[in-house]
Amino acid sequence: MRLQASALGDLVRNAEYIYPILESVHILGIALLVGPAFTFDFRLLGVGHRVLSITTAARYLLPVSHVGLIVAAITGITLLSAQATVVADTGAAPWKLALLILAGLNALVFHYGVYRHVDRWTDAAVTPIAARVAAGVSMTAWTGVILAGRFLAYT
Ligand code: HEM
Repeated sequence: MRLQASALGDLVRNAEYIYPILESVHILGIALLVGPAFTFDFRLLGVGHRVLSITTAARYLLPVSHVGLIVAAITGITLLSAQATVVADTGAAPWKLALLILAGLNALVFHYGVYRHVDRWTDAAVTPIAARVAAGVSMTAWTGVILAGRFLAYT
């Protein structure tokens, strides 16, 4: 595989401290991604509706989540470069990829769907069913990505 044979793959495999440092930054990225995403999903389910509106929650939490996704993706691809063929052969790898795609598609459907009319329900305790379904799919998909990530690690 090209990625594995690259100079990057060679460096990550052979330098003493790079792999554990990348793993740690990968986990930091996951925390920055999933923490704010779940907090926003809880708000979609009504938690904290007396404290802040959906639009305020989105403006504050989602950019943090996007930074986390970028950090997790960059470190994930770099980790993969060390042993791409071994990781790709694990049963968990296609699950992780499919669930990442599902989480991404769910976010797109939410933003270009029900969120376009958020002004009508930004302060609501009970949000539209499509928003609550999006929250449930998001939490399930990210939990699945974490599970699949754990199952493909340390191979
Ligand atoms: C392009 C995106 C990503 C790629 C290519 C990728 C790749 C990898 C690889 C190769 C490992 C194995 C590291 C090892 O063997 O120690 C790993 C571990 C892991 N990944 Fe990812 N990852 C990505 C994004 C994510 C995201 C978004 C999440 C969670 C929301 C996630 C969750 C995990 C978890 C929980 C582990 C196990 C960490 C550990 O126990 O040390 N990954 N990832």
